[in-house]
Amino acid sequence: MATTKNLWAIGACSTFAIAAICLSGLNGATAEAAAKAGTAAADPNYPKVDLPPVWDAAGKLVQPKNFRDWYFLGAPVTPHGLNNGKAPFPEFHNVYVQRSALAVYRATGKWPEGTMMVKELQLLGGKAEFPDGSHFEPSGRGYFPGAVNGLDVAVKDSKRFGASKNWGYFNFNHAPPPYLPAAAEKPIAECAGCHIANADEDMVYISHYRSIINPLPGN
Ligand code: HEC
Repeated sequence: MATTKNLWAIGACSTFAIAAICLSGLNGATAEAAAKAGTAAADPNYPKVDLPPVWDAAGKLVQPKNFRDWYFLGAPVTPHGLNNGKAPFPEFHNVYVQRSALAVYRATGKWPEGTMMVKELQLLGGKAEFPDGSHFEPSGRGYFPGAVNGLDVAVKDSKRFGASKNWGYFNFNHAPPPYLPAAAEKPIAECAGCHIANADEDMVYISHYRSIINPLPGN
């Protein structure tokens, strides 16, 4: 009888145009090829996520593809105008997670191995009319999204990132696209340290996403 795991693998393989990727297993090269093709290979290290993190031969995280199709968790915004002109991330922080990882979180309250939190930065749009950087739109005075300007990713993997509470942090540039094709883990002092010290739950600032993390009741 086929196990659930086998069925998962069969399902993943059936989506591939190139059967060779299925047959050759998951070495770095084929995984990277799958990521480039916009598909993802099921990975035994991450049995609960369908779009797993992909590592290149140097151990860098390959830029996740099509993350804008994932589940959108929210968009905190910390503009310069409210931070003495010195906000480290003056953009909207658009946060996405794989739908499969979210399904596990909803069912168990835990992010599975291979969860990726993707944060794409989006600058304020329009011309600032006030010292705080805000301007008027027909809907009112506020902050409105403009051009995208950077990509950060956090990956849960207890084997790789046990030293930083099971999550590794990656920056694919703080600049307009194209973002870097792959990124090395950032030192703990640059990223993980603040998440260790301050995040609400399992390194994630979940309180910002809580109110839209479940389907709207009645849907
Ligand atoms: C000084 C504290 C601090 C540092 C340093 C920091 N972060 Fe965060 N990070 C936050 C806070 C607070 C949030 C949630 C609110 C927000 O986005 O402003 C967040 C959110 C995130 C998220 C969205 C998921 C989540 O945990 O809520 C990712 C991904 C992320 N950070 C990656 C990084 C990366 C990569 C670096 C290093 C380049 C980094 N962070 C450095 C404080 C920090």
